[in-house]
Amino acid sequence: MEPFTINCAVLLLLTSNCFIWSSSLYVSNTAAAATPRRLQYLLEPPVHTEVAARRGDNATLPCILRAKPSHYKVKWTKLEPEPSGLENIIMISNANFFKPYGHLGQRASLQRAHTMDASLLLAHLELQDGGRYRCELINGIEDENIVITLRIEGVVFPYQSRNGRYRFTFHEAKEACAEQDGMLATYNQLYKAWTEGLDWCNAGWLLDGTVHYPIVHPRLVCGGDLPPGIRSYGSKDKKRDRFDAFCFTSQTPGSVFYISGSFSFDQADHACKDQSSELALVGQLYAAWRFQNYDQCNGGWLRDGSVRFPIHNPRRNCGGIPEAGVRSFGFLSKTTHLYGAYCYSPAPLES
Ligand SMILES: *[C@@H]1O[C@H](CO)[C@@H](O)[C@H](O)[C@H]1NC(C)=O
Repeated sequence: MEPFTINCAVLLLLTSNCFIWSSSLYVSNTAAAATPRRLQYLLEPPVHTEVAARRGDNATLPCILRAKPSHYKVKWTKLEPEPSGLENIIMISNANFFKPYGHLGQRASLQRAHTMDASLLLAHLELQDGGRYRCELINGIEDENIVITLRIEGVVFPYQSRNGRYRFTFHEAKEACAEQDGMLATYNQLYKAWTEGLDWCNAGWLLDGTVHYPIVHPRLVCGGDLPPGIRSYGSKDKKRDRFDAFCFTSQTPGSVFYISGSFSFDQADHACKDQSSELALVGQLYAAWRFQNYDQCNGGWLRDGSVRFPIHNPRRNCGGIPEAGVRSFGFLSKTTHLYGAYCYSPAPLES
C-alpha cells in the first residue's frame, strides 16, 4: 500500500482519483458502482473485471447471463474515454438480430459460446480501444448492466517537439503522438508506467487535457522534496498552454532492426529503404524495447530526426543509467555523420 498512499499526497488536484487509487479494491469498486443491487439476470463479474490485451490482439469482454428473461436485448457500450458517437453504442443484439454501430461495431461480435453467453469479442485491437465497457441486458422492466475494463498493454513514452521543451499545444501533442505510432496517454496509463519506473522531469499533456509528470526519484529541480508520485498541473488551456506529451503505444505487427554505420540522416533513411523498410518511429522503437526486449548499445537515427537507442539490460558503458529504457540524444543536425539507423520492417520478427 505504501506507494499508493505516498502518491496520493501529491495528487493535489485529483483527490477523487486519489480516493480510488488509495483503495486496493479499485477494480471491485468500479463494478460495485455500476451494479448497486444484486443482479437477477447478469452474472456479476466474479474476478476478471479487467481484461488486458495488446494492440492487434483479439479480446473477449465477458458478460454471462445467470437467468434468461423471456424477451431481452443485449447492448454493449463504450463508456470512456472520449465518447465518439451517440452514446457510443457498439452493438445491440437479441436472439434474431445483431446490429453493429460506429467504428467499434465493425470489429465487434458476440462470442455466443453457449446460450447464456453475451460476451463481446473485439478483433484487431487498436490503441484507442482501452477503457470501460458496459454490457446491458434490456428487458423493458429492470434493465441490468455490468462494467468491464479493457486495458491495452503498452508502454508510455515522453515526447518533446524538435523545437525544444514545452512547445506543444494539446492538439499538437495529440498529433505528435499519432505521428510516432502512438496516442496521448491516459492518466491510468501514466500511473502504471510510473509504478514500472517511469521518471521524467518534464510535464506533458495527457489525453484528458490535464498535464502531469511522473517522479520516482524525488529531486529539488523536479517538484522539490515531495515524495515519489505523479505531479499534477491539473487541466490546462488546450489552445494556449504548451507542454511536452506523454504518448502511449503497444506492440507492432512488424519489427525494428539496427544497421550500423556512420550515417547522416539521409544516408540512414536510404540504408533502411535498401532493406525494404523505413526509419523507425519513436513509438515503434519503444514497442520493440518493451515487447521484444530490444537492446542495442548504439545511437541510431529515427524518422523524426532524433537519435536514440534501446537498453534492456543496463550496463555501465551504455548510457550510464542504471534503469532499462530508451535513451535519447535528442534532435541532432541531420548532416551529422555519426550514427547508425533504426529501421522498421512491417514483416514480423523472425524467430
Ligand atoms: C481475431 O478475430 C478475427 C476476426 O474475428 C479473426 O479473423 C482472427 O483470426 C482472430 N485472430 C486471432 C489471433 O485469434
